Amino acid sequence: VTELRTLEMADFTRMNLPAEFRKVKPEDIPESIREPISRYVSQVDQMLRDGLGLLLHGPAGVGKTTTAAYVACEVRRRAYPVFFVTVSDLREMIRTRVGVDDGTVLERVRRVKLLVLDSLRAEDATDSFFGAVDLARLLEARSSWNRATIVTTQIAPAALRTSFPGMMEQARTACVEIKVTGPNRRDHVQEKLQERLGITRKGV
Ligand SMILES: Nc1ncnc2c1ncn2[C@@H]1O[C@H](COP(=O)(O)OP(=O)(O)O)[C@@H](O)[C@H]1O
Ligand SMILES: [Mg+2]
Repeated sequence: VTELRTLEMADFTRMNLPAEFRKVKPEDIPESIREPISRYVSQVDQMLRDGLGLLLHGPAGVGKTTTAAYVACEVRRRAYPVFFVTVSDLREMIRTRVGVDDGTVLERVRRVKLLVLDSLRAEDATDSFFGAVDLARLLEARSSWNRATIVTTQIAPAALRTSFPGMMEQARTACVEIKVTGPNRRDHVQEKLQERLGITRKGV
C-alpha cells in the first residue's frame, strides 16, 4: 500500500490546478460514474504504468472537470508528476512560452506522468497554431512513453472522431471512454447565489 501524501499549496501550484477544484471529495464525482472512477483510482499505479487515461465526455456542468481534478489529486497524492490545463490555456502557454517554471511547456506536457487536458472544444480542432494535428502528435508522443492523459469535453465521441481523428485514434488504446451524465450542477450553484441575496424562486 502506497503512503498517501497530503497535498500542499506547492503541489496545487505545480499541478496548475485551479483553486475551485482543490478540495474535491469522492461525493463530488457524478453518481453515474462514481464506481468506474473509484476503480480507476484503486488501480491507479497499474493504470499509470500502462499509460491509460480517461476520456470524460458529457454535457456542460455535469462534473467532468470536477472528476478530472479528483483523479489528478489522487495521482499527485501518490507522488506522481501531474499537470492540469485547459486546451486553450495550453495553446496560449505554448505560444507565449510562459506558465511553467522550468523546461519548455511542450516538453513538460509530453512527459508528465498524468496530463489533464480539460475542456476540449470544437474550435480547438481548427486553430492554426495548436490544432487537431498537434493534439494528435501530443497524444501519440505521450502514448509511446506510456504517459496517461485525461481529456474532458462536451463533444460526443462520434463528433470527436470527425474533428480530432488523429487524437481519437490514439485515444482508442490510451483512454477509457466514459460518458458523464447527470444534472447541470451550475443551476444548483446559481440557486445558492440567489439565496444569498434573498431571492427565492416563486411558484415552485
Ligand atoms: N457535489 C457538487 N454539488 C454541487 N455542485 C458541485 C458539486 N461538485 C461540483 N460542483 C460545481 O458544479 C459546477 C460544474 O462542475 P464541473 O466539474 O465544472 O462540470 P463540467 O466540467 O462537466 O462542465 C462547478 O461550478 C462546480 O463547482
Ligand atoms: Mg469542465
